[in-house]
Amino acid sequence: MSSKEKINRETLPDHIAIIMDGNGRWAKLRGRPRIFGHENGVQAVRETVEAAAELGVKYLTLYAFSTENWNRPRIEVNALMKLLVKSIRSETKTLQKNNIRLQAIGDLHSLGRTGYNELLTAINKTAHNTRMTLILALSYSAQWEIVQAVKSIAEKVKNNKLAVAEINKELFSAHLTTASFPDPELLIRTSGESRISNFLLWQIAYTELYFTPRLWPDFRKEDLYEAIINYQNRERRFGMTHDKVV
Ligand code: IPE
Ligand code: IPE
Ligand code: MG
Repeated sequence: MSSKEKINRETLPDHIAIIMDGNGRWAKLRGRPRIFGHENGVQAVRETVEAAAELGVKYLTLYAFSTENWNRPRIEVNALMKLLVKSIRSETKTLQKNNIRLQAIGDLHSLGRTGYNELLTAINKTAHNTRMTLILALSYSAQWEIVQAVKSIAEKVKNNKLAVAEINKELFSAHLTTASFPDPELLIRTSGESRISNFLLWQIAYTELYFTPRLWPDFRKEDLYEAIINYQNRERRFGMTHDKVV
């Protein structure tokens, strides 16, 4: 039996975020260059997007390239950018067919003109789709995002558009790149690493974290189901006591 049947559709997370990690190790195990792992990660993305949409998940955020990933060898960075452009181009049709809206967070201009334009075309083409929103985190880091938010708030205060007393949690959230998305209820990281690596720091304040040893290119629908079931067996207390929650 697939674990899909064990998922309670009533308590499905609205937003799942994934740190897709382990492509390099997956390739190394096969004696192949790291990019071979990235190429094989695309199939895992397809499966995950399809599984999430089929279940009725509303938002899926995938960490595809971090600010720090720019420090990798040039040959890998170039190959990743090429793969990104190629994948966006080839997958847009599937997104359209499945009524999925594409969005992106991060320093998108740093992707270069071709990457940026390709991304924008796909975002515009899928803008009216309603089944699920797929958010790609590209050249993204949470600290970068928080600094951007601080700068734009400071600018408004300086120009008398905003009073310091008006700054609160909600206002701060509204200045992040994720302003129009709810916070994720579940964050998955593959490859056995138990760290956040500068992903969504503000937004995961009360997110449930799930770490799996599976390397990203091996991640399949069943792995997503397992993560959701694990999440559904937890008690989210938000600082309250057990008695208050139930
Ligand atoms: C994740 O896999 C993909 C990106 C960060 C772009 P890695 O490339 O980090 O793979 P490992 O962690 O070296 O195995
Ligand atoms: C995090 O993975 C970034 C992405 C998955 C895009 P990394 O492989 O870059 O993270 P570290 O270096 O292991 O922390
Ligand atoms: Mg890694």
